[in-house]
Amino acid sequence: MVACGTIATPVPNMETLEARNQHSDVVTEPTGVVAVAQQATSTPTPAPTSTPTSTPTEAPTVEPTVEPTQEATEAVVAVPAMELSMEEEQHIIFIQEFGSVARGQTIFNTTYEVNTASGLAEWKCATCHAVDSDVAGVGPGLYSLSDRAGGRIPGMPAELYVYYSITIPAQHIVSGYPENLMPIGYSQIFSPQDIYDVAAYVLSLNK
Ligand code: HEC
Repeated sequence: MVACGTIATPVPNMETLEARNQHSDVVTEPTGVVAVAQQATSTPTPAPTSTPTSTPTEAPTVEPTVEPTQEATEAVVAVPAMELSMEEEQHIIFIQEFGSVARGQTIFNTTYEVNTASGLAEWKCATCHAVDSDVAGVGPGLYSLSDRAGGRIPGMPAELYVYYSITIPAQHIVSGYPENLMPIGYSQIFSPQDIYDVAAYVLSLNK
């Protein structure tokens, strides 16, 4: 069965998971930005503003040398939207406009035979995910998912994050969970509409 040894350990509660998650986001992202900013001080590039000698092209503030921590925080907030392919933009629009919450709820509560890291198994989304709370079960509780989905991968819109959580779970593993638990085969058994519906459903939970 699916990595039972790993789930047997007490599952951390959602607050801890969130804290860790935010922590790792804040630490990893800004470090890169700060490094860029510092590098930019010594390697001047053509500047868009009034300080032509030292302003890096994409510095989050005008002064790359100010307080690194403060700058890091601003950089996280100001993460630019990522560039999306046409297909990705379509996924987002279809989830927003044509995802059926009612149908998604039915899918969420239906048992499917689906490929997992350890072969075919019968699962419902609902077996692993709570929908009325953020309490961790086998997988994260999804109640407030819409509030955090957009911040999971910096710059990635919430709908796309959820789309990939279902179709390519390994693309982002929620901090504190093992990576082989969420079934990997949903894109083989779901139609595109199924995925849009179930994504619309999980994003609607606290609305
Ligand atoms: C066997 C248990 C299991 C099943 C069945 C399962 N998941 Fe998951 N899911 C997980 C685990 C564990 C994670 C966290 C690890 C990861 O990110 O892959 C997760 C992560 C997620 C996330 C990301 C949550 C977050 O907080 O970022 C979403 C969304 C999700 N699952 C939706 C679904 C949907 C929709 C289905 C049904 C189509 C489903 N899951 C079926 C175990 C499961």
